[in-house]
Amino acid sequence: MAFSKAAIIGSTGLVGIELLTILEERAYPLDEIRLFASGRSEGKEQLFRATPVEVRSAERMDLKGLDVAFFMAGADTSRKYVPLARADGVLAIDNSSAFRREADVPLVVPEVNPRAADSHDGLISNPNCTTIQLVAAINPIHQLSRVRRLVVSTYQSISGAGRDSWDELLTETEKSLRGESSEIAFNLQAGIDRLLEDGHYYEEEKVVEETRKILDEKDLAVSVTTVRVPVLRAHSVSVYLETEEPLALSDVEFVLSGAPGLRFVKDGSDLRSVSPAVVGGEDEVWVGRLRKDRSIDNGMLLWVVADNLRKGAALNAVQIAELIFGTT
Ligand SMILES: NC(=O)c1ccc[n+]([C@@H]2O[C@H](COP(=O)([O-])OP(=O)(O)OC[C@H]3O[C@@H](n4cnc5c(N)ncnc54)[C@H](OP(=O)(O)O)[C@@H]3O)[C@@H](O)[C@H]2O)c1
Repeated sequence: MAFSKAAIIGSTGLVGIELLTILEERAYPLDEIRLFASGRSEGKEQLFRATPVEVRSAERMDLKGLDVAFFMAGADTSRKYVPLARADGVLAIDNSSAFRREADVPLVVPEVNPRAADSHDGLISNPNCTTIQLVAAINPIHQLSRVRRLVVSTYQSISGAGRDSWDELLTETEKSLRGESSEIAFNLQAGIDRLLEDGHYYEEEKVVEETRKILDEKDLAVSVTTVRVPVLRAHSVSVYLETEEPLALSDVEFVLSGAPGLRFVKDGSDLRSVSPAVVGGEDEVWVGRLRKDRSIDNGMLLWVVADNLRKGAALNAVQIAELIFGTT
């Protein structure tokens, strides 16, 4: 039976707000929703199906009797409160990076590795936003012939860094138009999250390790460069992949066209068609610019765009809950 009692931890953030919207859109009856955020939001109200719901501080968290708790408030908050959900027998779906790499915690994209969720022990992790759209796009090809190498460059929107960064981009854009300098408006930043000792950024490591875990390919060769771009919503990813066997482009087009959760755009002539401006607010992962690499056998290139707040975060989390509880 579909879940009917849920909590959102981080309900006032960009992902939490999107999650509330998605839950409103779902047809199944949700008769209880509890909202939690930081102490700053204590006492605020958010609307759910036109009814005001009070936001409580996570310090006063009470999850007893719920089916599922969506953790959307960062890794530290998840580390602190996910154990509480598990102790109360409430399924925790965690959007943070806190537990993703733990061997006994499933990391799930329902269109790609749904069966991984079967072995959960009260906690399922939602992958990083970029990883979700990457694996959704390449898995149908991987099923035709094993992908042995991936080279990925990301163009990640500012909403991926949360509400404060979204606001900062708007302010900085105005300042920039007045002639002041800005690090994020009309600029790119090559590197996301913290810098690691070997010159990679942590966001890049997340995409590598999570892709390997979801595809169950621990030695998959993956190279990633993550870039923050001054786009409000929807991440774009340029993908080069190499398969074990040569593939006909028509076969790849066929599987991408039929894959659940994907929208394949064959015609590359309209450059706006697979772009953040079009894909923002959509549920599917959009794939375009599919072509054979001219420089190497078995190489292929594609362009993948998805809404980081929906499929990259809130929607995937809801789909995980639906995988466990059903939709009716
Ligand atoms: N944004 C994306 O595209 C995206 C994609 C995938 C994963 N994620 C992950 O999803 C999570 C939320 O991201 P976001 O973009 O929604 O961030 P955000 O807009 O900055 O919102 C953060 C939320 O967490 C709450 N929060 C902060 N500190 C807290 C604390 N100590 N206790 C309880 N709640 C606290 C905030 O409450 P207040 O309003 O009270 O401050 C707010 O509701 C993060 O783990 C992020 O890495 C985000």
